[in-house]
Amino acid sequence: MKKIGVLVTGGAGYIGSHVVVELIEEGFGVVILDNFENAESDVPQRLERIVGDEIRVVRGDVRNGTLVAETLKKSGIDIVVHLAGKKAVGESFSKPLDYYDANVGGAISLLEAMQSSNKPALVFSSSATVYAPSDRMLLSESADLGPINPYGRSKLMIEEIVSDAVISGDLTSAITLRYFNPVGAHPSAMIGEQPSNASNNLFPFIAQTAAGWRERVRVFGDDYPTPDGTGVRDYIHVVDLARGHVAAIRHLMGRSPQGKHSKVNLGTGTGYSVKEAIDAFSQACGFEVPHDIVGRRPGDVSTCVADPRLAAETLGWRAEMSLERMCCDHWAFQRTLRDRRPDDRV
Ligand code: UFG
Repeated sequence: MKKIGVLVTGGAGYIGSHVVVELIEEGFGVVILDNFENAESDVPQRLERIVGDEIRVVRGDVRNGTLVAETLKKSGIDIVVHLAGKKAVGESFSKPLDYYDANVGGAISLLEAMQSSNKPALVFSSSATVYAPSDRMLLSESADLGPINPYGRSKLMIEEIVSDAVISGDLTSAITLRYFNPVGAHPSAMIGEQPSNASNNLFPFIAQTAAGWRERVRVFGDDYPTPDGTGVRDYIHVVDLARGHVAAIRHLMGRSPQGKHSKVNLGTGTGYSVKEAIDAFSQACGFEVPHDIVGRRPGDVSTCVADPRLAAETLGWRAEMSLERMCCDHWAFQRTLRDRRPDDRV
């Protein structure tokens, strides 16, 4: 029987590589499309070692419409999981045109190619950053939208483009997944986050400090209205997040009638503060990760935690892994980087 064909754009990246593993383990036929701008060239080999099978990889940019259309047709793709794009919030302020070109331009080019082939359904990788900053305890999908950086605006624009394409019939069906804060790594420690220099997320900083690549973690503010004064986020294990994509695909396949675009949060529903995250990581690595309190980072909100109920109700998916597990897996992968990428030390 022919496997259901899934094209994963950005499939060699941090989240994409974990999605690829979960899809293959669930019996899908996967093709990766990646330009390797923010992924190491040997990720496909590492993925093959994890899944014990060959993986088809197309090296190229999602904005290359001819290449994408050809890949969709040749590989008999039924579903596209679109993760390719730029994702560093800070960098999006200094290079907004690059962000709109790669993210919005990339999505339009992909949708055109999908329209000209056999019209596969779409799972789109969005972000909690599309929500307006808010003091609400939990952010549900109906919370006010209002991203405050070009990266977030590019994600919201794509969500709207996807909705219009579904209404017009150019796209058959779509699910947008709004990620909260993905962390951790595959339990094999063979794939994980290898952040570019533009990234300034908390977990890579903690892990690099624990590895001795950095001196101290800077905690951005301890005067927020949270229990210990530091910012609270909904950290989600990247393997849980990847499994959310499998659930979304199963939902799309069983959906009838077609012609809908749902938007669903992927988060745990539990928030942890920066201090709690550093403490949990310190437990995982067996020593205290040095840190200092510094001033707030402009643009940060105090709390951002998902209301995860819609994902449970519609996709039958829930995050399962604890903060402890996220830290242990993140640390195990970071230790492998010490040997593989010694030049990355800062
Ligand atoms: N933080 C520090 N020190 C650091 C880095 C971060 O204290 O060196 C704090 C931040 O102030 C915040 C928390 O750690 O309170 C998390 O910060 P991240 O940069 O890891 O994550 P953000 O919540 O700011 O943003 C992330 C992604 C976005 C995504 C968003 C969704 O970077 O792409 O989550 O909520 F959109």
